Amino acid sequence: MEPAPVWARSWPELSAWLEALGDEECEYYEQHLSEFARRIGDWLPALADYDQWTDVPVLAPSTGLRTRATLPEVDATDMPGRKRLQAGAFAASVIPLSRPVLDWCCGKGHLSRTLARQCPEPVQGFEWDPALVEDGNRLARRFADAVTLNCQDVMADDLTWPTGCHGVALHACGDLHRQLMRRGSAAGAPRLSLSPCCYHLTSTTRYRPLSAKANGHPDALELTRNELRLAVQETVTAPARVRAQTALVSQWRLGFDALQRHLRGCDEYLPVPSHPPRLVNEGFAAFCQWAAAKKQLELPLSVDWRSWLDAGRYRFGQVRRHELLRHLFRRPLELWLVLDYAVFLEEQGYRVRLGTFCDRSLTPRNLLLDAVRACDTPPAPRSRP
Ligand SMILES: C[S@@+](CC[C@H](N)C(=O)[O-])C[C@H]1O[C@@H](n2cnc3c(N)ncnc32)[C@H](O)[C@@H]1O
Repeated sequence: MEPAPVWARSWPELSAWLEALGDEECEYYEQHLSEFARRIGDWLPALADYDQWTDVPVLAPSTGLRTRATLPEVDATDMPGRKRLQAGAFAASVIPLSRPVLDWCCGKGHLSRTLARQCPEPVQGFEWDPALVEDGNRLARRFADAVTLNCQDVMADDLTWPTGCHGVALHACGDLHRQLMRRGSAAGAPRLSLSPCCYHLTSTTRYRPLSAKANGHPDALELTRNELRLAVQETVTAPARVRAQTALVSQWRLGFDALQRHLRGCDEYLPVPSHPPRLVNEGFAAFCQWAAAKKQLELPLSVDWRSWLDAGRYRFGQVRRHELLRHLFRRPLELWLVLDYAVFLEEQGYRVRLGTFCDRSLTPRNLLLDAVRACDTPPAPRSRP
């Protein structure tokens, strides 16, 4: 949004060093953020502890256990390959299971069906999309899994937590996973296990931490949605073709930004909405014509498209380098959010484990919170029916 970010004024040397990085160096540091943190330690000495901030225990068990907990491919109808492996890794990290399970925002119940094979008790799912519920129940019947999905808005005020259920959620977004923690803990759920994602999907404009401890802290962060979004700004799992297309459109957007500043005679960013996918094949000029129409901006009859596209490419190079610094704060921010969840759950009487349930190449949202009610005595183990 800003060709010169505010921090660059306080750190002009760092900013100049970053802007002089070659493309390959930039790419390398993007993949090796802890090396980057060490490299810029001269300017920001606190970054010496970067690895320590971002190091979390690995909860993912041995490959053998993970393979056994993963649905075999022949049973994984409609299940994307990554989802099958993520659900398997999640299951392997939370077994043994001793309680009936409630899968929160279960989609078609991929995690539900995976857990059902590890659980002596039935699994039920809550999902608000009736088509997904129908498909999921059909799959469960077809593969004889002890799973029932129910159509339920998990944000509904009148939701009743099924007594004694262990709540689980794989990648329920923002307010949905926060609701699981609030509702589940208020209902005295014996255990809550979740892998959070999309922290920024929230109905509040200023995000407040969940725990009393963080809320009462004089340095408590109050974050906007845009700041929260930083925690998930990563495309490690996107195919190269998608990444190349995203880079191309970013150059167009920045080229249009330079053009609109010139035409309006106003050095201010103008937000442009999401573009229709067809535009990707129509080139820079078509993109600018579409964006100008959206913003009621009249374009002159003749525009030197090449030079505005060059401006976009130049700005894209700058943005990539500035973002490198921003991305250093991605994982620490995510961990700050998730540690606040852990403290909240402890405040509600849970013992909490926090760690990764799979490698980040399978999903960058690989954190798992596993909270067991401190006073809970699990029932005597019984084998699956
Ligand atoms: C990112 S998907 C995760 C699905 C599933 N847990 C998985 O890993 O395959 C989030 C799911 O939440 C559902 N959802 C969104 N808002 C909901 C709500 N208010 N109540 C119930 N389900 C909701 C969506 O329809 C979607 O299936």
